[in-house]
Parts: sequence; C-alpha cells; structure tokens
Amino acid sequence: MTNILITGAARGLGFELARQFAEQGERVYATCRNPQAAEALRNVAEASEGRLTVHRMDVGDMASVKACAEELKDVDIDILINNAGVWGGLDTQTFQNMDYDNWARELNIMLMGPFRVMQNFLPHVRRGHDKKIVSITSQTAAHAYDHLIGYSYATAKAGLNRAMTALAQEMQDEDLIFTLLHPGWIKTDMAGDVADLEPADAARDNIVAIRNLTKEDSGKFRKWDGGIHPW
Ligand SMILES: NC(=O)c1ccc[n+]([C@@H]2O[C@H](COP(=O)([O-])OP(=O)(O)OC[C@H]3O[C@@H](n4cnc5c(N)ncnc54)[C@H](OP(=O)(O)O)[C@@H]3O)[C@@H](O)[C@H]2O)c1
Repeated sequence: MTNILITGAARGLGFELARQFAEQGERVYATCRNPQAAEALRNVAEASEGRLTVHRMDVGDMASVKACAEELKDVDIDILINNAGVWGGLDTQTFQNMDYDNWARELNIMLMGPFRVMQNFLPHVRRGHDKKIVSITSQTAAHAYDHLIGYSYATAKAGLNRAMTALAQEMQDEDLIFTLLHPGWIKTDMAGDVADLEPADAARDNIVAIRNLTKEDSGKFRKWDGGIHPW
C-alpha cells in the first residue's frame, strides 16, 4: 500500500486523484482548505473503510501547512502531490489589464504554496518508499507554448517549474524524485466545459504517469500521458 498526500483534493483533478488512488487500494491523505465544505470528499472518505481521510490544509497559509504536517507527523508519505491551484480569469491577467492582487494570490498558492508544503513535508517523504514529489504545473508555463497566456497563472507555474528543477538538482544525491506534470486540459471548474478531458479520465492517466516515475524523471517536465513536455 502506498501512502499518498494530495493538496486541493476537494474538487476537480485533486478530488479524482484522491478518489481513484483510494479505489485502487492506496492510503490517501486528502487535504483541502475547508473540509466542512468538501461534502463529496467526505462521502468518499466515509465509504473508503479508512483508506481515505480528509485533513485541513490551506497551502496559502504557512500556519495551516505546519499544522497539517504536525497532525501527520507519524505518517510516512510515499507520494506527495502538489495539486492545489487557482485561476483568476484571463480578463484580469493581461498586459493591458493586470490585477496585481490576484497575481500575488496566484503566486502565493501555486508557487509559494507547493514550496511551503515541500519544506514541511520533506521529512515525511524522506521516510517514504517511493519518495516522489509531483507538482501539477501547466503547459502555459512552457516557453514552447505559443498561445495567449494569463500572465499571473503562467508565471506562477513557471516559477514552480524552476523551483522543482532546482530542488531536483539540490537533492540529486538522495533517492527523492521531483517531477512536474502537466495534467492535460481538463473539464474542471478551472478550465470549464471547453476543455478536452473528463476529470476521471485525466486522473486515471495522471495516476499511471505518476506510478511510472523513476529517479530518471527527477527534474523533468512530463505530461498526463507519460510523454515529456517541452520546456
Ligand atoms: N483544468 C485544467 O485544464 C488544468 C490544466 C493545467 C493545469 N491544471 C492544474 O491542475 C490543478 C488542479 O486544477 P483543477 O483543474 O482541478 O482546478 P479546480 O477544479 O479549480 O480545483 C482547484 C482545487 O485547488 C484547491 N485550492 C485552491 N486554493 C487552495 C489553497 N489555498 N489551499 C488548498 N487548496 C486550494 C481548491 O479548493 P477549494 O474547493 O477550497 O477552492 C480546489 O480543490 C491546478 O494546479 C491547476 O493549475 C489544470
């Protein structure tokens, strides 16, 4: 059995990853910022016979991250998935019209958030078997992506990418695996119905990609289908 911690598991991709990993018999620590409001997740937990538990963690708040790390201090984590994310909408993150408060919020949640989580949960992952840290990033962070981007979102994810490659380099002599995953364009609240993939299908493929990661993938940028993503 693999111990998996997922951030932002209340809905969207995080919810599906949590649900499916538990269905596959793994032990899932599903974290979210408001467990009270996460009814679907709590229902999965209730039906899981203890394989999935719900824990409060707001990745934007250091005290909350520290409290969750302390609550789970005796748990060895095999796979840590930085999934929580926010999208403030394209209209308010263009060159002409930038909402700087939203930019700060996106940086806090999608760049500093995973950093806080990794800082506080590294001891748990070091004790785990797989020692995988997967950060869900976005194709829009890639220089190779040549469509219109939301500047706040894309730069937050690009910063995350750089932090992950630096961590992979800094800890290359350990068994730790730091990998970036573009999860596909998914029909969640974030992307809406115009996107390509159903959340359940995307989660299934992302799970296969995560299971297949090896030390060779540390510092790499991969896609939901297991392929390499161009930088
Ligand atoms: N959907 C796509 O096409 C797509 C493409 C590329 C990358 N991604 C990335 O995939 C990940 C999942 O996105 P999604 O599509 O599932 O989006 P989503 O449906 O909007 O879900 C986002 C999740 O993040 C959580 N979250 C937001 N702020 C948080 C915080 N401060 N602390 C903890 N959790 C927080 C939300 O929790 P609440 O319910 O509490 O708000 C929610 O569970 C994100 O990192 C996103 O950037 C998505």
